[in-house]
Amino acid sequence: MEPIQLFVPTFRIEETLSEIRECLEKGWTGLGYKTIEFENEWKTFTDLPHAHFLGSATFGLHLAIHLFKHVEEWADGDEIITTPLTFVSTNHSILYENLKPVFADTDEYLCLDPVSVENRITEKTRAVIFVGMGGNTGQLAQIVKLCRDKNLKLILDAAHMTGTRWKNGVHIGGEADASIFSFQAVKNLPTADSGMLCFRNEAMDKEARKLSWMGINKDTFSRTTEQGTYKWHYDIEYEGFKYHGNSIMAAMGLVALQYVDQDNAYRRQISEWYDEMLKNEPRIRRIPMAPDCMPSRHLYQIEVDRRDEVMLALNQQQIYPGVHYRDNTSYKMYAFAKGTCPNAHRASDRIISLPLHIRLSYKDIARVCTSLKQTIQHLSS
Ligand SMILES: Cc1ncc(COP(=O)(O)O)c(C=O)c1O
Repeated sequence: MEPIQLFVPTFRIEETLSEIRECLEKGWTGLGYKTIEFENEWKTFTDLPHAHFLGSATFGLHLAIHLFKHVEEWADGDEIITTPLTFVSTNHSILYENLKPVFADTDEYLCLDPVSVENRITEKTRAVIFVGMGGNTGQLAQIVKLCRDKNLKLILDAAHMTGTRWKNGVHIGGEADASIFSFQAVKNLPTADSGMLCFRNEAMDKEARKLSWMGINKDTFSRTTEQGTYKWHYDIEYEGFKYHGNSIMAAMGLVALQYVDQDNAYRRQISEWYDEMLKNEPRIRRIPMAPDCMPSRHLYQIEVDRRDEVMLALNQQQIYPGVHYRDNTSYKMYAFAKGTCPNAHRASDRIISLPLHIRLSYKDIARVCTSLKQTIQHLSS
């Protein structure tokens, strides 16, 4: 029996190699050149006004928080409301800046619940980070409104959201002050590691470009291509980071971008097959998609009783689902907030992400569903 893995990325190998070959032939693999091309293509794809290509989404989350803290003059210990159901880089990014993550609870979409967010707002609250779980917009529209009403910055962790659009066709991202997308190895737009930071505000985008290259105010590519000026006369305005992306990752991204809508459509098809095959099983709760979006479908998630046993039984049948995510307050370093988010905690013990990638066939999905239903039947008998 062939194993069925949670994620297997598909690379268009010849096209990708040809883009990478261009970098090698030109002798330019670093910042600039393909990174600029990719940023421009990304802006065309999403219609977002600014895009800065980075080494990862984690870098983007940190840079966004760092910049807001400095520009808005937030103090150490100021608070950012965030979710306990996420990959830890969302929450580590708050700590990198000596700010305090305040956890709000999640809703039926496994995204932040606006009512819980509102209840967590204090005098020290400066921002909210919303994670679009699996590409879902959840109640993002309400969170946008809340942030505007309360004058809070909204940071969208859109790591899963490449290709998620509102029902009117507009790509998500523009409603937040900063949106951060991940192109890590198994995301919908896979490279090896990279990400895109999209600010709404042009000045912030400009600052981010300096900060991601050690604070230097002229990047190496501009210095190489510009004529006649004193190229070595750059200045350093602040202590920056080495967070920028490179042309090899951008070359991979440029090819993947051409296929992502088509790939996401197939992900939605797979999700419909799962929906259809699991809909009559009352012991499985399928995590719904918000009605106002066309999701990227990075994940297909369900909730079941006795999750760990279900996972082990599936593994024995060569089916390898995943868990996104464990409640971050169950980790030692976020244990100060343990018990504050009962919905997230309950979900954390029950959720499963079923295999979802574009190499899976209808037959594969049928195999996963049959095994899952038999396992649940067996465990409850
Ligand atoms: C929700 C979420 N946020 C942030 C990240 C970080 O992305 P990257 O690996 O590109 O740093 C990930 C990646 O797994 C993620 O799933």
